Amino acid sequence: MTSRGQFITFEGGEGVGKSTQITRAADRLKARGLDVMVTREPGGTPMAEAIRELLLAPRDEAVHEMTELLLVFAARAQHLHGRILPALAQGTWVLCDRFTDATFAYQGAGRGLSQQRIAALEQLVQEDVRPDHVIVLDAPVATGMARAARRGELDRFEQETVAFFERIRQCYLERARALPARYHLVDAGQALDDVSEDVYRILSQLLP
Ligand SMILES: Nc1ncnc2c1ncn2[C@@H]1O[C@H](COP(=O)(O)OP(=O)(O)OP(=O)(O)O)[C@@H](O)[C@H]1O
Ligand SMILES: [Mg+2]
Repeated sequence: MTSRGQFITFEGGEGVGKSTQITRAADRLKARGLDVMVTREPGGTPMAEAIRELLLAPRDEAVHEMTELLLVFAARAQHLHGRILPALAQGTWVLCDRFTDATFAYQGAGRGLSQQRIAALEQLVQEDVRPDHVIVLDAPVATGMARAARRGELDRFEQETVAFFERIRQCYLERARALPARYHLVDAGQALDDVSEDVYRILSQLLP
């Protein structure tokens, strides 16, 4: 019997380096002989990626925060059941670029939806599934925004205010401090290679 894979999520505000670090971490874990799947939220399956496009597209129509919340969880249900859980059951380690912590941060702290409402949907959609470990990449908002801005056109979230992103950063910090056994805070303001080393030091402690 193969043992279940580890479910590890990478979290943090815009441009902190999640996508860069997740790729590097996956390469290093694969080099250690692990089966690794890299995926992202919202998205990760064709249908969930279509929902991602709906969520990110800038639009003239105001988007109600409940619409946004339900779409995020609709994409998550599809991704979790269609891809994440089957991979974990096969012993694959799943590295996911954002997950439900991002919902607490963006739709909760950012948009103002109550944490209880989000927690209720989390329970409904995920039952007892939670990430085994959460890597929280933390950097000053201005640092992340400057990195993200270098990529060009801004999506519907990237067009938000600095205050919105400050609330998101604080939410991630609070969640990380509340559950230190599961959350690992990494200083993402450092040079790329130093961030990668910190991330790998955390992951290497989880190796079989
Ligand atoms: N520690 C770092 N120092 C300098 N530049 C960095 C660092 N980390 C990432 N970058 C650069 O910043 C940009 C954003 O990084 P990346 O796309 O990995 O961030 P992200 O957190 O995935 O962003 P988003 O939230 O928009 O998905 C990229 O051009 C990347 O090369
Ligand atoms: Mg990214």
